[in-house]
Amino acid sequence: MRTSLALADYLARSVLEIEAALKASIPEEWDIPPALRESMMYSLEAGGKRLRPILVLSAAEAVKQQERAREIAMPVACAIEMIHTYSLIHDDLPAMDNDDYRRGKPTNHKVYGEAMAILAGDGLLTHAFYAVTRAAGLGAPPEAALAIIADLARLAGAPGMVGGQAADILGEQGVTSLEELEYIHLHKTSDLIVFSVLAGARIGGAAPQQLDALQLFARKLGLAFQIQDDILDLIGDEAKLGKPVQSDVEQHKVTYPYLIGLEKSEALVEQLTGEAKQALADAKLAMPDTLHDIAEYLMRRDH
Ligand code: IPE
Ligand code: IPE
Ligand code: MG
Ligand code: MG
Ligand code: MG
Repeated sequence: MRTSLALADYLARSVLEIEAALKASIPEEWDIPPALRESMMYSLEAGGKRLRPILVLSAAEAVKQQERAREIAMPVACAIEMIHTYSLIHDDLPAMDNDDYRRGKPTNHKVYGEAMAILAGDGLLTHAFYAVTRAAGLGAPPEAALAIIADLARLAGAPGMVGGQAADILGEQGVTSLEELEYIHLHKTSDLIVFSVLAGARIGGAAPQQLDALQLFARKLGLAFQIQDDILDLIGDEAKLGKPVQSDVEQHKVTYPYLIGLEKSEALVEQLTGEAKQALADAKLAMPDTLHDIAEYLMRRDH
């Protein structure tokens, strides 16, 4: 297993590479209204952990020795960060969670207005599909690229993240069961994480049984991640998080800590991380260490 120092180094190096690729992801020569381009780039370049693109890269590298896996996976890594960023821009709108602060900066609609924030989200969502086609241009097999596009439409769309967000909004009127809350978390958060791991693994050349095991890994990891997000909304540090705490209380969200308490929520994050690691071991990847260490690291995150 890597030392935590080696993981920190891997994460920092990946963030730098991802941010350089994001910067260059919308062609300069495209004729886009400057305010729209600026609003899209404002949120895309605002920072954040870049967890989902890091998972794309590390899954691509984990399957087997393949020289160009990371390079070919990079456009797909950018694509999922675009989708994630759009989901955050819309999530913060007054009609949704009504938050003024994200990634340590004023939210997109606070700077550019609600109309431009909605359109920046639309632009990022659409551009993500263009970005995936760039992976094929770099040498991803066409069948892998097609499967990635289908996964993205499903896992980011109505049966995926958008469906989870809809259920989250409807739930403000009263989620009563753990099953309903699990549905929300699995879709609004796990699905983009599932996409990231599967897309990377497809580029890395994973076999069908490996994809199945990795899907379970990512589902558990995503659920643990959102429960930890709920915990941090209650007891986290706003300066470290770069977003307001107590937002869920203000919006009357039913969260894991609300439904089962803080201690049980913390125990559940640990349990789900253990189950994720087991699924990862079952995938029998050639080099699973980074994915394993990321799972460990996320369990202890404070931002
Ligand atoms: C926030 O995601 C939204 C959730 C699904 C919990 P992240 O915690 O990954 O946010 P950034 O990308 O680091 O800002
Ligand atoms: C957001 O969940 C999930 C998506 C944006 C898809 P939250 O509403 O809990 O995320 P934060 O806490 O605002 O980052
Ligand atoms: Mg929300
Ligand atoms: Mg929110
Ligand atoms: Mg939250």
